[in-house]
Amino acid sequence: MHEITITRPDDWHLHLRDGPLLETVLPFTARRFARAIVMPNLDPPITTVAQAQAYRDRIRAALPAGLEFEPLMTLFLSEATPPAEIRLARESGIVQGVKLYPAGATTHSGGGVKQLENAFATLGALEKHDLPLLVHGEVTDPEVDIFDREARFIDRVLEPLAERFPALRIVFEHVTTREAVEFVQTARAGIAATVTPQHLLYDRNALFRGGLRPHYYCLPVLKRASHRSALLEAVAAGSPRFFLGTDSAPHLRAAKEGDRGCAGIFSAHAALELYAEAFDSAGALERLDDFASRFGAAFYRLPRNRGTVTLTRSEWTPPAHYPAGNSELVPLRACEPVRWSLKGPPD
Ligand code: NCD
Ligand code: ZN
Repeated sequence: MHEITITRPDDWHLHLRDGPLLETVLPFTARRFARAIVMPNLDPPITTVAQAQAYRDRIRAALPAGLEFEPLMTLFLSEATPPAEIRLARESGIVQGVKLYPAGATTHSGGGVKQLENAFATLGALEKHDLPLLVHGEVTDPEVDIFDREARFIDRVLEPLAERFPALRIVFEHVTTREAVEFVQTARAGIAATVTPQHLLYDRNALFRGGLRPHYYCLPVLKRASHRSALLEAVAAGSPRFFLGTDSAPHLRAAKEGDRGCAGIFSAHAALELYAEAFDSAGALERLDDFASRFGAAFYRLPRNRGTVTLTRSEWTPPAHYPAGNSELVPLRACEPVRWSLKGPPD
């Protein structure tokens, strides 16, 4: 196959940021994806429907003329989120999920949940109003090795949560381990996962190839090769429980490269192309359409997009960086070839 045409896809996990950085990154996503679930971890986070509405307006205002794109908003769950906000979120029609960040697990998650019990009433409201819970699945216990934090989260938090709220729909975001794959495959109905391009294409050795590589650092951190294989096998098998979520998470160069550099990989510039590469490597290109354009919409109970995008098997090389204000954004695969291209006018 040298060319593949799929239904216009959606990105079910995306960081768009705000202000000038939003303007820089949004066109890359909007050229490829019809919709995206927009993460709420701004600083301060999006915790109310009113804030989500205002953020959505800013995103739409930042959209270049001629591009069609629908931001699907989320709320940041805190222990102080009242159950009434969940009803408002459901009634708003613009909020599609609520994000659980264990406090301190990742970028701008300080206001996340410390004790899950303190959020039970609000989680009950999510279940009642049938609004999905999106989960950053890592424990924050400093005693737990960083490579084990996702696996520990499953038995300590996710399994009990799924049992306590049996009708709650849950997206286990950016899964990175065999344990997560097995959990999702065998879990009760209503449980799904997003998978990023970096976790399909790289293992943890990428962090150290030729020296320390901050632009491969994201959370959950890249895992060993056997976990990458498990992820690739799961998506290549075409289970509807796994769908596309890039977790494209831009940080300016200085924030990535300094001491205590931020976690997050910017992939929006080549997201669909990189997924095509991953599926191609697994001999599963014919599954890309479902993964990118069907399973996520079905889980969120949204219609499939109209229109198509076409990818061709031809190499291109992302630049060393994209300009972003007075600074720079270093993309995934900078200066290294991507084997698939998006047909149409360039970014
Ligand atoms: C994300 C970010 O920078 O907002 N970073 C990341 O490494 N993925 C947050 C997140 O999704 O964990
Ligand atoms: Zn994320």
